[in-house]
Amino acid sequence: MATLPLPFQAVLFDAYGTLFDVYSVALAAEQLFPGRGEALAALWRDKQIEYTRLVSMADPGGARYRPFWELTRDGLRHACARLGLPLSREREERLMNQYRHLSAFPENRETLRALRSRGLPTGILSNGDPAMLEVAVKSAGLSDVVDHVISVEPVRCFKPDPRVYALGLSVLRRRQPTLAPRQVLFVSSNGWDAVGATWFGYTTFWLNRSGAPPEELGTAPSHEGRNLRDLMALVDGVAPRPARS
Ligand code: LAC
Repeated sequence: MATLPLPFQAVLFDAYGTLFDVYSVALAAEQLFPGRGEALAALWRDKQIEYTRLVSMADPGGARYRPFWELTRDGLRHACARLGLPLSREREERLMNQYRHLSAFPENRETLRALRSRGLPTGILSNGDPAMLEVAVKSAGLSDVVDHVISVEPVRCFKPDPRVYALGLSVLRRRQPTLAPRQVLFVSSNGWDAVGATWFGYTTFWLNRSGAPPEELGTAPSHEGRNLRDLMALVDGVAPRPARS
């Protein structure tokens, strides 16, 4: 592949929240628990992510690691119990099945194609386990526009453990051996993930779809935008928008 006059040589995306709309489960949750769907979706997501951090911190050697799918189910059970929502086995399966087939954002495909047409390999770097990611990528029709689907599984820990971001780099380096971390543009809608990736050394783009306030962690992502058009503007050097400092 020819070297392009771009600061980036590859683009990695977070999956859940960034390419796949985790809050789309709110609709199914609303049908099962009228008036509580949004609250359930939000608490479910929070617990899921909290559990990933707990198992990563509890044993850096990976002994507490469990696949994201299982932690997602645990998070759902806890969230329902906390909100006082009765979760039958059937309801649990329905919600988990919804999670397996999350809606994808409609502009994903066009963006991934556009990046590849500019000579930039694309990838997903996600907490998700390989089986989950495979189904999500397939059902969103993205298999032919993503070059690498990278799960945390081999490192048995979750973001923002630097071993996860290092794994992304090592997979990219199989085809691009001289790639430096800053030449990887890492895109995440999760502010904390964009910060974690910045700490690692990636160039980062916080896809701040909801206009959320930045994380107060003393580090800002390299760039920020509201949608994938803003990402393409950055890649094309049309409207680079530095993140607030
Ligand atoms: C992921 C979570 C953080 O896909 O959304 O890695």
